[in-house]
Formats: sequence, C-alpha cells, structure tokens
Amino acid sequence: MQATFRKLVHSTMSSLKPSPTPPRAQLLSTATPELTASSLATASSILRAGGLVAFPTETVYGLGGSALSEEAVQSIYAAKGRPSDNPLIVHVSSREMMLDLLPGREASVPKLYEPLLEKFWPGALTFIFPLVGSVPAKRVVAPSVTAGQPSLALRMPSHPLTHALIAESNVPLAGPSANLSSRPSPTTAAHVVHDLGEGRGVGAILDGGECAVGLESTVVDFVPGKTEGEEGELRVLRAGGVSAEEIEACLAKAGFGAKAEEGDGTTTTTKKIKVYRRDFRSDEMEEKPTTPGMKYKHYAPSNARVVLVRPTPASTSADDATLSLFDIVSLSSSASTSTSPFRVGLMLTSETLSLLHPSSTTSTPSTGDRITFPTTTLFTTPPTTFLSYSLGSTTRPVEAAQRLFAGLRYFDALPRDEESEGSDGVDLILVECVEETGVGLAVMERARKSAGGAKEVLFRV
Ligand code: TXA
Ligand code: MG
Repeated sequence: MQATFRKLVHSTMSSLKPSPTPPRAQLLSTATPELTASSLATASSILRAGGLVAFPTETVYGLGGSALSEEAVQSIYAAKGRPSDNPLIVHVSSREMMLDLLPGREASVPKLYEPLLEKFWPGALTFIFPLVGSVPAKRVVAPSVTAGQPSLALRMPSHPLTHALIAESNVPLAGPSANLSSRPSPTTAAHVVHDLGEGRGVGAILDGGECAVGLESTVVDFVPGKTEGEEGELRVLRAGGVSAEEIEACLAKAGFGAKAEEGDGTTTTTKKIKVYRRDFRSDEMEEKPTTPGMKYKHYAPSNARVVLVRPTPASTSADDATLSLFDIVSLSSSASTSTSPFRVGLMLTSETLSLLHPSSTTSTPSTGDRITFPTTTLFTTPPTTFLSYSLGSTTRPVEAAQRLFAGLRYFDALPRDEESEGSDGVDLILVECVEETGVGLAVMERARKSAGGAKEVLFRV
C-alpha cells in the first residue's frame, strides 16, 4: 500500500518535470505588496514543478524543495554538497499538513510535545516524530528526506513569507540551511546568492531581508519511558533559537516532571529535558550525522582561521595562562610568509571593543572600522590590521546570535586592497565567548564548531 502510494506520488511529481534550471537563480524581491505577490507566485510554481527555491525564515535562510519529490530532495543534497546520510527538516504551514505527513496522525504526536507545539509553533523549534505505523501517511515524504532514519523532523516557521510560500504552493518544504555544506548558515539573501546563486541548480531566492534570530532552530526528540505509564523525556539534540530554559519552563508549567515538596514549603519539579553536550553525550551519538557533534565540518569560513577568546581583566590575570591580543596574533601570524598586512577580524562584544578602543568610549566602533593601537605595543611582521565587528552587548545574547554567522561571512569575504596579495578574507577571526545561558548556549555551540573544536584562549584586556 505504502509502496503503491509512493509510486503514485513519485510518478505525479515526475510528470511535472521542472523546466531546465537556468544557471543563475532569480532573486525575487518582496519590497512592495505587489512584488511580494508576484514573487510568491513564481516561487510556488517553481516548487510545484519540482524545482528549488531558497526562502527566508526567522532563523536562517533555507533551501527548499518539495519533500514529496525524491528528485527535488536529491537536488537539494547536490546543490549544497551535503552528505547523503544527514536528514532534512520538513517545513509545514499548518497542523493539518503536519498530521498528513505522519503515519499515525495524532497518535504520532508524543504528549510531551503538545504544550511545546502550542507555545513555540510557529517558531524556531523543530520536532522529531517517529515514522512508524501500519497505515501509510496521507502524504509520504521522499525516502532521502529522512536519510534512512525511522523518524521525521518537522518545523512550522513563523516568518510570514515562509508561511505564505508553503500555504500557496501546498508543498511541504524539505529545507536545510541554504549554505554550501560546512559554511556558516545564511542570514541574508546576499549570503545565499554568494553560496548557491550560480550553477547549483537553484531556481530562485526569495529575498526576505535579514533573519531576526540568526541561528538555526532548536531540534528536539522524544525518548519514551521504559514502562507503560512512564512519561518519557525530551532531548535537545541541537541548541538553537528557542532556549533550553524556555522549553523547560513550558513543560514545567504544563505539569510534566515529578513534583517534590521541599522542606521550606516550595515545590521543585524534576527536569524533563536533557541537552546534548550540556547534560549528556555519547561517543556513539557523536558519530551520528543527526547529532550536532563533530562528524562533519561546520560553520567554517573558507579563508580565515577562527579562534575563540575569553577576555579576562588585566588585574586578575597577571600570572596565569592569559595572553595579550598581540601574543595571540603573533602566534598566528608567525607562520605567514606573506608581506601583505596580516588582517585580524575582531568579533567582540561592544563592552570589550570599547575597552580595546578607548577613544570611542561613548560609541562602539562600527563594522569594518580599523582599530588602532599605540604603535609601541605592536612590532609584528608583516604589519597587522585589526578590524572591528560588534557581537552586541554581553547583556543581550540575542544580538550575538543574530550577528555571529553574518560576521564570519563578512570577514571571510572582505576584499583585499588592490596592492595586497593573497585571497580575499581576513587571516584570523577572534570570536569572543558569551555566557552559555539562554540562546548563548547555541551561540557557543556554533562558535566552537567554526573554530574546529579548538580550545578557547584567555586574553588580557
Ligand atoms: O532553523 C533551521 O532549522 C533551518 C531553517 C531553514 O529551518 N534549517 C536547518 O536545517 O538548519 P539543517 O539541515 O541545516 O539542519 C537540520 C538538523 C541537522 O542537524 C539534522 O541532522 C537534523 O536537523 N535532523 C533532521 N532530520 C532528523 C531526524 N529525522 N532525526 C534526527 N535529526 C534530524
Ligand atoms: Mg545547516
């Protein structure tokens, strides 16, 4: 039955063969209501014909194709150069569309998911659902979507353009982030044009401006209880736009987790969630493509090396392992054989930038501003240029989330002066560590991966 249905879907999609994809993706504007309507109509028809459209969401841009067409899904993997064992998230625009993709419909939705679906959908939370059941789903996803996993990842984004695109095309959208595999995720249409705009088989890029969250969605999975009647628990496989604390609070409010009376009359609730790497990890999971481990290279600039730095006040760091900014740069630039200036991108919080650049104590240097230090403190060969990029205030980690990928891409693509030799991009990017609470947990997970897992360096400011 399932096989017959799959064949039917496949033959229907194949009969709607996409017309040959032009080598360059069309950039579809949404600057006015009229343009938005015609752009959505163009994007929908490309999707319905089995083609690919990059679309904005509130987290990052996605590369979308029909989740029901094996051909479309295969072309997503090919466009990104994505390993075929790493499954895709499917985006839906309604609960009905979600249920149509699940063999057990309502029975496939764990009870623990209900309050989270209620609170965080539409939004930056992706749920993994079991793909088991004796009856096939009403709409069967193409086999490559799940890459052999017996489960399906679903998300309903809150961005109005994503919602309109899925609803108008009536196509559940398989959509990984719209970057070349291993590069930072795109948070503007220009980032997508850079990675996938030409010769990658993408039909169009729907321009929705900058993404508000700037990091991918949080991915959660349900682990059933060992015995019947046991609630089971939630695992956060990938930290993201919705924080672990928010998820925990939502579940506690909905009455999940055992309650215990404390001696002082207050009640505590047993935690119902475990966050990968924060609360548990396993070598076996680390090897899986579906765990945000280190199996694949991720978020790495193509030209620059990334080093994580944790500022430490000079007064407390006299005799420990802290380095000055110049020590860090000298260590990295000593191997350079180029005579061109060694360029360092400083992705730091506004507080640290102000400390380093005291002449601008009232305002933080803007993106790309040169930061100059008293020349007596710096005798490096080749000469070093420091360029600033603010990660926002330490008191507002959502700003670091919003700006991290954009900053890595900014420095990676920064053109050289005409007279300098070498490829574009800076030579070294220093990224400041932020506190790992709230969305800061996801920021640091991405930052660590962009640094290839290397340890952070303490530096004196
Ligand atoms: O915010 C986002 O999540 C963006 C936007 C476009 O929605 N999408 C995104 O997709 O980041 P991608 O493919 O870059 O990351 C999806 C993550 C991967 O780590 C993948 O391994 C995991 O979700 N995943 C997908 N299906 C899964 C499954 N069935 N079981 C476990 N993990 C799954
Ligand atoms: Mg991705």
